[in-house]
Amino acid sequence: MIISSTKDYREAAKRRLPPFLFHYIDGGAYDEATLRNNVSDLSTIALRQLVLREDMTNVDTSTQIFGEQFSLPLALAPVGLTGMYARRGEVQAAKAADKKGIPFTMSTVSVCPIEEVAPAINRPMWFQLYVLRDRAFMKNVLERAKAAGCSTLVFTVDMPVPGARYRDAHSGMSGPNAAMRRYMQSVFHPHWAWDVGVNGRPHDLGNISKYRGQPTGLEDYIGWLGANFDPSISWKDLQWIREFWEGPMIIKGILDPEDALKAAEFGADGIIVSNHGGRQLDGVLSSAKALPAIVDAVKPKYPEFKIFADSGIRNGLDIVRMLALGADACLIGRAFVYALGAAGQAGVENLLDLMKKEMHVAMTLTAAKTVSEITRDSLVRTEKQL
Ligand code: FNR
Repeated sequence: MIISSTKDYREAAKRRLPPFLFHYIDGGAYDEATLRNNVSDLSTIALRQLVLREDMTNVDTSTQIFGEQFSLPLALAPVGLTGMYARRGEVQAAKAADKKGIPFTMSTVSVCPIEEVAPAINRPMWFQLYVLRDRAFMKNVLERAKAAGCSTLVFTVDMPVPGARYRDAHSGMSGPNAAMRRYMQSVFHPHWAWDVGVNGRPHDLGNISKYRGQPTGLEDYIGWLGANFDPSISWKDLQWIREFWEGPMIIKGILDPEDALKAAEFGADGIIVSNHGGRQLDGVLSSAKALPAIVDAVKPKYPEFKIFADSGIRNGLDIVRMLALGADACLIGRAFVYALGAAGQAGVENLLDLMKKEMHVAMTLTAAKTVSEITRDSLVRTEKQL
């Protein structure tokens, strides 16, 4: 099979992964309108093609954020169960990101533990935290992330409750007697037990395996999320995390300018404009549509505040589009997970190479020699666009 895009990796992953895992990755919430709009709205963002202006031989896709060097303005987004899509999947994805010069963000609900992934790479890992009812667990996992040298905390706030995901019900992903459980028993055990399990325990989620002796959740993952995630949290509850985490802290899951301003006022270092890849509340704005108003509300007051964007990014051109709409950098979720499921670390490395090349082409044809030259001026100005 010829692989030249995220679409190809999606097809390859579909062939390779069991259906309940593929649909867990691929699907969204309710009727998946926001999932579709994330991609289609971004594809309609028109860049100004500018030619013959200057020598475009040397185009530089690199950037610096929080003192870290990025070979392109991109990070791998936190994706739960990454270790299910390939053996020791978090390690493979992290190594690919490291090799290609961008951060890997480890999800709270990973299969491999923090202590395994962080030492496997040379650059500091980013760590993503969910709001759990058990604050002692949150504190403990943060301590572990700190001890393992994670540089940046990504704090996800758009999942106080799991979204309604119809595909997961149909595929057997959700529910206590689901395909997930049978799969764990038949495939992972015994063949993959040593590869996938933690300390020989095949059913563990690496970061929550010591979770107060309770079942760790892989047998009923979605049920576990619903039981343990905490909808009571508000800004005032976050103060201790801000005080505890000395490094940069990014709030993930902001879609409204008012919330973005609150995040800046709260003392976060940045936000990720995101609707969780259309997996939470369907019908909300796509990230491409939400981003410009957020940038306009926050940047004049807080110019150093970093605005990341994810949801719908499938290629290097999309990264340039998000930057033109005002993002400092982007994250990708499904795109890298398809590549990981299809071809492991090599797949993710190849995908990042493709995205870099595509970004290079888009920058060349919009006369942007550096990332900072991608601005609102790179957009065709129409009422629809901004
Ligand atoms: C996610 N996402 C996510 N986000 C998060 O903060 N913690 C997590 O554990 C997960 N888990 C997760 C699993 C899967 C299978 C997907 C597809 C996504 C959301 C993710 O970080 C990101 O916001 C979206 O994936 C971005 O949209 P695209 O790039 O997938 O369109």
